[in-house]
Amino acid sequence: MAVKVLHQLHTYDEALVARFRREMRLCARLYHPHIVRLIDSGQTDENQLYTVFEYVPGRTLGDVLATEGALPPWEAAHLMLQVLDALGCAHNLGIVHRDLKPQNIMLTSTGVRRNAMVLDFGLGTLSNEDRREEQSRITRTRDTLGTPAYAAPEQLRGEPVTERTDLYAWGLIFLECLTGKRVVEGTRLQELIIKQLGPEPIPLPEWLAGHRLGRLLRRVLEKNPKTRDVSAQGLLLELESCATQGWPSADTGESQPAAEVSQLSAEGERRQLTALCCGLRLVGEAVNTGDLAELDMLLWAQHTACVELARRREAWLGSIMGERLLLYFGYPRAREDDAQRAAHVALELMAEMEQRGAELARSRGIHLEARVGIHMGLVISRELRGQSLAGGPVLAGHTPGVAERLESLARPGEILVSAVTAKALQERFVLESSDEHHASAEVHAAPIFRLRGRHPSSTPGLAGTPTAPLLGRKLELELLRQRWRQVQAGTGQGILITGEPGSGKSRLVQELVQQARDTPHTFLECHCALESRNSALSPVVDLLERMLGLGRQSTLAQVTAAVETLLSRYRFELDWAVPLFASLLSIRSTSGHFPPHQKKEETFRVLIDLFLAMAEAQPVLLAVEDVHWADPATLELLSALVKEAAGTRLYVVLTARPELTPPWPPAQVLQVHLGRLERP
Ligand SMILES: Nc1ncnc2c1ncn2[C@@H]1O[C@H](COP(=O)(O)OP(=O)(O)O)[C@@H](O)[C@H]1O
Ligand SMILES: [Mg+2]
Repeated sequence: MAVKVLHQLHTYDEALVARFRREMRLCARLYHPHIVRLIDSGQTDENQLYTVFEYVPGRTLGDVLATEGALPPWEAAHLMLQVLDALGCAHNLGIVHRDLKPQNIMLTSTGVRRNAMVLDFGLGTLSNEDRREEQSRITRTRDTLGTPAYAAPEQLRGEPVTERTDLYAWGLIFLECLTGKRVVEGTRLQELIIKQLGPEPIPLPEWLAGHRLGRLLRRVLEKNPKTRDVSAQGLLLELESCATQGWPSADTGESQPAAEVSQLSAEGERRQLTALCCGLRLVGEAVNTGDLAELDMLLWAQHTACVELARRREAWLGSIMGERLLLYFGYPRAREDDAQRAAHVALELMAEMEQRGAELARSRGIHLEARVGIHMGLVISRELRGQSLAGGPVLAGHTPGVAERLESLARPGEILVSAVTAKALQERFVLESSDEHHASAEVHAAPIFRLRGRHPSSTPGLAGTPTAPLLGRKLELELLRQRWRQVQAGTGQGILITGEPGSGKSRLVQELVQQARDTPHTFLECHCALESRNSALSPVVDLLERMLGLGRQSTLAQVTAAVETLLSRYRFELDWAVPLFASLLSIRSTSGHFPPHQKKEETFRVLIDLFLAMAEAQPVLLAVEDVHWADPATLELLSALVKEAAGTRLYVVLTARPELTPPWPPAQVLQVHLGRLERP
């Protein structure tokens, strides 16, 4: 532990103590691998405020820079990426560090590499709070401010500090790591302040200025906070993709190629990996005549969107080369679901690009073509010798090359996978042999498959037994259970659980489903997915297929028979209902678009009737997951369903990210928001 005494209060200052308490409460919520944990804080009998932090062995970055001088660019990037992630975590909670400097960054050497831990979030404050008055006091008492060498101009002027203030300091520290020299120097305080407040931009060394990293630093070091348009999350993505370009070096003045074979250590590590190659092309008249820089930006925006999708499924960004993006699944550690995550990313990415492409075509007359190739195989991973090269490993070998060749064979909108990959995917995904189309391509002798989508039955089940107990969420769970009791007594209703990804929406519903088992009911679940948000009623069709035990290969006769059995159980008029269901179930093999208006109303009617008939037999718990991805028809159906649920025994439990704008009136569906889970 490290105990730190902050203040000796001469007169008891209630407001200060209250603020200290509030801020410490906030800081106690910071949980991040690169933030030193606050263990305790309080006030002694002698009116001293103190904080107790986790003890971290190591030296401060300040010490390291003083003794070692400049760090190799890959190490500087490695450490500053960790600091950035830490800031991102704090910023998400509205906490600004406000005093980031090399002395507040501990470097630990307990791992293979040195790692960074950010100290002293104790001085952080709510970002939106106006601290003008207190700032001016701090500026006057020099010691509290520490050194103004890392303070952003707005901070020195006593204006409100924001996330951008921290990021400015982050930029200065990064630059210092790269050059080994303090960026804003001065022997006297005034001199430092004048340099920080002056209009001249922070100078960058020549060898850095032309590199992408230099451009990134220039944006972070923008003196005017209004035009310093950066966020920790955005910078993180950019910095990661900078790595693919290789780091600049002070010695040669040139950026080094990311992979130079002569510098690879000979003995590599063999590992299993899934490589995904995605090619994006802008085509059309507007492209031939357009401004090149602008088109590059446009393409870059699409690549960034893809990388963001991939990050959610823990992909490793291999490289971006021209129009192509290479992603790896299974690095740094291989997992059994590598190929499946790659397939999910491919499908999501196609859906996203399709949507963005439609928008581009409408607004700019530009067509966006996306192609994907996936291959699973061995690679040899090598660390690079030589300090100025990229921080990531070099993944050499055949596997990424096969993914690239598959990509080049794909047609726009197509996802091609190799035979081994298809084998790993076949249980959960729909694959078609694509040999007839690619027979002429002698490039690849093994058969090629086209990835079409997920099997409806492969969605992760809510009915499964959770592997770990539920933490917290007592109130939310009680609320869900209480409403379920009301539903069972005949007051049907809808409830919407919102929260950021990973906040535990699914886990909470899973708990409800577990606990609901003690009374007889029908449990139904639907999942909305990014890749099917353009396909009408897709989650509902999935659900029906599962209920009826149908697959995509089912014949019309099988479909009709299954529908008839189900519907006659609930005494439907078969002549009317069966054709409606049959055409609904064939929706995917036709266009994915919904039939004409009249038919749509009837289809909604028959679907709602089915749910209500089931609820009449026994209470129905219908969980619909990730409604923010629902296609418009599904949303419309859900609206109608919750409206009619009152007075029945139907419980519609919806989950969604906060960005969903519910189409139903707020009074109709109770909304429960899941915040961050407090640590016990
Ligand atoms: N209250 C909780 N107790 C225990 N584990 C939780 C809790 N909330 C979430 N988790 C775990 O965190 C992960 C993400 O939760 P999940 O329910 O999938 O989030 P969401 O559906 O909001 O994206 C899962 O592994 C889940 O088991
Ligand atoms: Mg979920």
